[in-house]
Amino acid sequence: MATLKVLHFPDERLRLKAAPVEEITPKISGIADNMLETMYAEGGIGLAANQVNIQKRIIVIDISEHKNEPLILINPEILKLEGKEESQEGCLSVPDYFDVVQRAKNIEYRYTTPKNKTITKTVDGLLAVCIQHEIDHLNGKLFIDYLSPLKRNRLKKRIHKQKIEGHRSKNSEQLNNESLNKIL
Ligand code: NI
Repeated sequence: MATLKVLHFPDERLRLKAAPVEEITPKISGIADNMLETMYAEGGIGLAANQVNIQKRIIVIDISEHKNEPLILINPEILKLEGKEESQEGCLSVPDYFDVVQRAKNIEYRYTTPKNKTITKTVDGLLAVCIQHEIDHLNGKLFIDYLSPLKRNRLKKRIHKQKIEGHRSKNSEQLNNESLNKIL
C-alpha cells in the first residue's frame, strides 16, 4: 500500500467528474486500499478518488471511533434524499477550514463492494453527511460551493495569502475536537 497526494482547492482537477468503474479488477482494489491508507494518514473520515487525482467513482469512508471499520463504495449513487440537517464539515482538499452545510438528513444509496456485490442501504447522521460530501467530490463539487459568495471570497483570499506567505495560518477558533472529527 502507499499514500497518495491529496489535491487542494483551488486545483482544477478537483472539478473533474469521475468516470464509473466498469469492472472491479485487482487494480481497482489496490486504488481503494491506497485511498484508505491516505485517508487514515491525513486524519480524514472520507476520501473520494478524484481528490487523489484518480478520475474513477470510488469513495472510502471510516467514521468509527477506532478507525477500524473501513468502507469502500464503488459507483455510489444516491437514490433518495429526505429531510434537512445542518452540520459542520471540513475537507482534506480544503485544509484548516470548517463551515456549516445543510444536507439531507436521511439518504437511500446504492453501491458496489470490492467483491462485486451491489448493496442498497438507508442511513442518517454522520454517515449520510459523509456519503453526500464524497459523492459531491465525484461530481466535481466541494462543500465550500454551498457557502455564501462572501464567505467563499474570504476563503479564497485567505488561501491566496497563505500561498504567498508559504504557510497555513490555522484558525484556532474553528479547530476544536468536534470539527477535527469531520474532515471528509
Ligand atoms: Ni472532502
